[in-house]
Parts: sequence; structure tokens; C-alpha cells
Amino acid sequence: MKRILTGDRPTGKLHIGHYLGTLENRVRLQDSYQTFVMLADVQALTDNFINPAKVHDAVFEVAIDNLSVGIDPNKSTIFIQSLIPELAELTAYFMNLVTLSRLQRNPTVKDEMKQKGFGTNIPVGFLNYPISQAADILGFQADLVPVGKDQAPMLEQTREIAKKFNELYGKTFTVPEILLGRVAKLVGTDGGNKMSKSLGNVIGLSDQTETVRKQVKSMYTDPNRVSSDIPGDVVNNPVFIYLDAFGQPKHQSTSDNFKQRYKKGGIGDVEVKDFLFEVIEEFLEPIRQKRQYYESNPKIVHEVLRQGTIKARIEVQKALQLAKSNMGFEFKDF
Ligand code: TRP
Repeated sequence: MKRILTGDRPTGKLHIGHYLGTLENRVRLQDSYQTFVMLADVQALTDNFINPAKVHDAVFEVAIDNLSVGIDPNKSTIFIQSLIPELAELTAYFMNLVTLSRLQRNPTVKDEMKQKGFGTNIPVGFLNYPISQAADILGFQADLVPVGKDQAPMLEQTREIAKKFNELYGKTFTVPEILLGRVAKLVGTDGGNKMSKSLGNVIGLSDQTETVRKQVKSMYTDPNRVSSDIPGDVVNNPVFIYLDAFGQPKHQSTSDNFKQRYKKGGIGDVEVKDFLFEVIEEFLEPIRQKRQYYESNPKIVHEVLRQGTIKARIEVQKALQLAKSNMGFEFKDF
């Protein structure tokens, strides 16, 4: 069976952007791929090192997010990155294969550095995280990596590292493919940016009904449409983007009808938003129910992660063993 490895940085609860970017694909493919889901706490620490407790606590939150959207622990393996030290060892060998300037050119790293205001004081751990992420992926010999669009440069670097290693030391690692989500990058409720918790433009997978209602009501629509009887834009309008994303296939015809009317100036924002609210609630309700089950059974979650980590670690140990053997870098009888 082919393999999937993907993961999340545990810094807080996940949102509907994560769902469309990657979670949906993991759930959909867990029957046809051997699926590994990493809670990437070591990576999360690279820009949250002043607050390890936050990352530690978020590991369980993000585990529950995954379970609530339908990751089935009997099919998929969920595990904790920091409990697999072999990943750090693999990272060390990969570090020799990547230049500093290549890391500095990684577009996602560049963006994040700006966002986080590191300026010229870039922590080495942060700059290095694409290499560590390559170890996450190659350590599992993954064939496919379902991620959001912002992760494409990471996959590109991972593929380069795999090829370089294979070239130098002989065929060792599977060169993985990326799998983008149906909506690879979801605009936030403010219409301006990618959905991101720090920007407050998020609808969380664990948000309660009233929070969702408020957030949908305050959503950005078409700023040029000063009254509901003039034609409006549906293309760059997050309300319609979300309707398309979450209303299919059941609400397709209503969405299409609303779109037609909106384009002609025949429907108000309030009516469309009320409909979107219903659609999102319908999507979130079963997720909330699963969450409730796992939140009231923390021992089950703990056991899922404990067993998942044991299983995952064995796979990384195998890959590391093969890597060292192909490098001719083994010490026998030690
Ligand atoms: N970088 C990913 C994110 O920010 C998380 C991640 C860590 C990951 N290791 C991974 C994703 C390996 C895919 C594969 O969301």
C-alpha cells in the first residue's frame, strides 16, 4: 500500500482552511493509503520557543481536531514528532545536502520570517525547519503529502533532498508527490488574507454556534456594493467562496441561484450570509459531536497517540537504518 505522511504544527486549534487544504484529503484517502499524521511539535517550537507549554498543550487539541473530522485511529496513525528522536538524526544527515542560500530562498520561510518579524536575527532552528520537514516526510518513505498551497516550497525542497541523497548514496528514499486540497488556500473572513488565527479571520473547527454566527455576520463581501439592489461580485467574495467550498453537492442549486441573483442585484448580503451560516453549521455539527466524545475520553486520545507513536517510530528507524547502511556509515557490534 502506498503511503501518506502529513502533519500540523500544534500551535492552536485548526480551522476550516486546514480542513480544505489538507484534512479533507487525509480523511478521504485513509482507506487507500497507509496514512501517518504527525503532530509536529518540534517544528512548532521553532517559532514558539518562548512558549513550549502552549505547543505541548496544543498537541492534544490538534490530535482531537484530526479525530473529530474523521481521521480513524484504526486506519491512520497519529503520532508526536518530539517522541521520535530518529527524525532529528535524519535531519542532521540531510543538513549536509542543503546550502544556506537555498534555505534563504525558500518562499515560505521568507514569508514567515517577515510575518514573525525576525529581521536579521533569524534563529537557526527556524531556518532549518524545511530540512527537518524533509526528514519528517522521507523518514516515512511517503509517496504522497496532502498539504495546503503554502507548503508547496517545502515539498519542493524535500524532493530535492531525496534526489540528492539518492544520487550520492544510492537509491534510498521515495521521492514524494504533493497533493493540494480542493481549495488549496482559503481566504479569511476578512477577504484580504489567507485564513490564519493570528489575523482573527478564522472559522474554527471547534467554534461554537454563536461564534460562527458572529463571524459569518461580520464577513467581508463586496465592498463596492453599497446597497443590495446593485450588481455584486461573487468571484472575490469570501461568502460565495465558502458556499462553493462547503455547500457541495447538496446546496449547489441554491448557491447557484443566489449567485445569479447577487450578480444582478437581486439579493442582500444578509440573506446570503444566513444561508452560509446554515451550511457551515451543517458541516460543523458532526465534527462537534465527535469532538465531544474525544474530549470526554482523554484517555482514549492518549492511547491513540501512544500507540501511534510506537508504530510510527519503527518506520523512521527502518528508514534511518537504510540511509546509514547506504551511506556506508554503520558501526557494527556497538
Ligand atoms: N509545515 C506544516 C505546517 O505548517 C506542518 C508539517 C510538519 C508537515 N511536518 C510536516 C506537513 C510534514 C506535511 C509533512 O502546517
